[in-house]
Amino acid sequence: MDTQKKIDPNKLPQHIAIIMDGNGRWAKNRGKFRVFGHEQGAESVREIVEACAELNIPNLTLYAFSTENWRRPKLEVQALMKLLVKALDKELPTLQKNGIRLNAIGNLEALPEKARKDLISVMDRTSENTHMTLTLALSYGSREEITKTIKEISLKVKNNLISPSDINESIINNHLYTRDLPDVDLLIRTSGEQRISNFLLWQIAYAELHFTETLWPDYTKAHLYNAILDYQNRERRFGKTSEQLNA
Ligand code: IPE
Ligand code: IPE
Ligand code: MG
Repeated sequence: MDTQKKIDPNKLPQHIAIIMDGNGRWAKNRGKFRVFGHEQGAESVREIVEACAELNIPNLTLYAFSTENWRRPKLEVQALMKLLVKALDKELPTLQKNGIRLNAIGNLEALPEKARKDLISVMDRTSENTHMTLTLALSYGSREEITKTIKEISLKVKNNLISPSDINESIINNHLYTRDLPDVDLLIRTSGEQRISNFLLWQIAYAELHFTETLWPDYTKAHLYNAILDYQNRERRFGKTSEQLNA
């Protein structure tokens, strides 16, 4: 494929995060129930996971369910949880075949028992895989994560395990759900919305943002290649000047 060949393998983002949005609108456009869009969205997940594994992207994080998504109609929430269980059961062989370790971030305690158990089981069974880490953000909210972090650090201070002057960015980082992951290099959001919706606020401090009108169920490998090419054409200055970078 043409665009794929244009990708520079030496300048790959080490961590791609995706806000997979637009399933409901995709279904509505076809006169179908929202759940139909979520089912189709699961197919896009499979395709994009595979594409990242093929490209040797070491970390892919997918926003699958936010802390705010609990506010949706009960039937939609139930359907999403069922879809999660179905996908976990179905995709285990693919994860193993591609050397993908499954990871999850978020308040997993809030998930229904069956979903949580299946998730933990697939995480255990893929824990030795090293080609790529696929992280699902489930019942994830960045503010919840940061609040939890502050509570944990406060408790350590209270118990004299650390002093307030010890608190630094690295300590905060090590208390986040994402402690084992590098910062996000490329954040993609589909469906035309240009907002972050409580996703990885700390971790995207210097991410390149890529927004596309494409609805998630229509998102293909070719779209991902375009996003990566867009990323590779950016100059990441991290506060420095362009001249410094090119010196
Ligand atoms: C994203 O699609 C999937 C989840 C948030 C679970 P939406 O369900 O938000 O689709 P739209 O935004 O209503 O089209
Ligand atoms: C963000 O999408 C959450 C996920 C993709 C899982 P939403 O569709 O829930 O976001 P908002 O509420 O419209 O910002
Ligand atoms: Mg949405």
